[in-house]
Amino acid sequence: ALLDTGPKPLAGRTAIVTSGPTHEPIDPVRYIANRSSGRQGHAIAAALAKLGADVTLVSGPVAIPDPAGVATLHVERAEEMRDAVISRLPTDIAVMVAAVADWRVAASAGQKIKKRPGEAPAPLQLTENPDILKTVGHHEKRPAIVVGFAAETQDIERNGRTKLKKKGADLIVANDVSPETGIMGGTRNRVKLISTTGVEEWPELDKDAVAERLANWIAERLNQGAV
Ligand code: CTP
Ligand code: CA
Repeated sequence: ALLDTGPKPLAGRTAIVTSGPTHEPIDPVRYIANRSSGRQGHAIAAALAKLGADVTLVSGPVAIPDPAGVATLHVERAEEMRDAVISRLPTDIAVMVAAVADWRVAASAGQKIKKRPGEAPAPLQLTENPDILKTVGHHEKRPAIVVGFAAETQDIERNGRTKLKKKGADLIVANDVSPETGIMGGTRNRVKLISTTGVEEWPELDKDAVAERLANWIAERLNQGAV
């Protein structure tokens, strides 16, 4: 590996990052999921590590490799993701990027559900998943910096602000994930940073560049002790 001699403002700091979707089983062969490539979350984990942080990444099922220099835990379901995150607290930093499925099947089937041609399938009974960001934001071992994302298709700023409050976050990185933006599944992102101190709009950037800028934002915030 090349020797990385860049600045290490996060040396001695710990971070937990979630990334990717979760898969909520319907039966052993089927699941419910959100769209997410894991690109943005993985890039953020790598960017925090590059600044010297000791990073644990909790990743749902993705098709991209584990980032270098990051301890990666692989999970499937939201409840597994929550347990993995909570078990790592306390950390200095938490960045919840995962596209967690909001609901899971209340009682997933132990055996493959067989189709009966010509018969309507039984409706799926769903139940709410734990909100991992909200749990972390209100935890007794709450990290000094808690960052969430807000995937929106409308009213981005207003929805982001509501999420900032409700989830007890210091920062919400809001983005427009309408299909026509190409952000979901793409390599670029255009975000608005919504914090208690105001709104900052970033230009469209590579997801790696968004990650780098966000890691620097976090380092600055943490090192000025302003939370
Ligand atoms: N999040 C989470 N656990 C969940 C749902 C969301 O940790 N069960 C986190 C996401 O990782 C993200 C933030 O909460 O950082 C916002 O996720 P989003 O889906 O935009 O918001 P929700 O609160 O789920 O609201 P909605 O989907 O209705 O917009
Ligand atoms: Ca959601």
